[in-house]
Amino acid sequence: MLTYNYYGHACFQLDDGTTKLLFDPFLTGNPQASINEKDVEADYILITHAHGDHIGDAPNIAVRTNATVVGIPEIMEFGGQRVKTIGMNLGGTVKLPFGFVRMVPALHSSGIEGGVACGYVVGIGGKIVYFAGDTALFDDMKLIGARDKIDYAILPIGGHYTMDPVDAAKAVEFLGAANAIPLHYNTWDVIKQNPEDFVKLVKGAKVHVVKPGESIELA
Ligand code: NI
Ligand code: MN
Repeated sequence: MLTYNYYGHACFQLDDGTTKLLFDPFLTGNPQASINEKDVEADYILITHAHGDHIGDAPNIAVRTNATVVGIPEIMEFGGQRVKTIGMNLGGTVKLPFGFVRMVPALHSSGIEGGVACGYVVGIGGKIVYFAGDTALFDDMKLIGARDKIDYAILPIGGHYTMDPVDAAKAVEFLGAANAIPLHYNTWDVIKQNPEDFVKLVKGAKVHVVKPGESIELA
């Protein structure tokens, strides 16, 4: 069993009952945040890039929870010697006790000198989940779907900084994903979207619209 706990904007947790993966934990200052950074749990923290609305509270949470932080080497310095880190890079796969983490490309700026933005494909709880991070639509999403049969694609739909519902629906098609979950919208007016537009545009996959503070089982 695998649970998706959504905390608002691009922050969510995958929990297989044993291990908790926390993604892009921007909670302090996040108008959608449904949990305080002092209460969120994590065994691993996966960071897609160094923009503030993604790296967020990762340093504090990593120190408090003793979680291992995963990201590109350029953004692994923030905790100094205080936190455990796994620095990896695009195309790399790391096997971990719960399954695996594969770092995949994203088309976005990195928020840090010398860095790149990324997405993740994770195998956990018998499912394969792709988190795009912040990205534009790109044709090589087809390669992500060719390598792994994506059960759930978690995609930004807010536009302005990332894909909008039109491009995100095309991404679902490129990935061949069975299910899709939208995020990174309605946090601020500049990324205001109606998720039902995304639902209507997606063909051949089931869309799960999850509100901040809600949880669903990834079946
Ligand atoms: Ni960004
Ligand atoms: Mn962002």
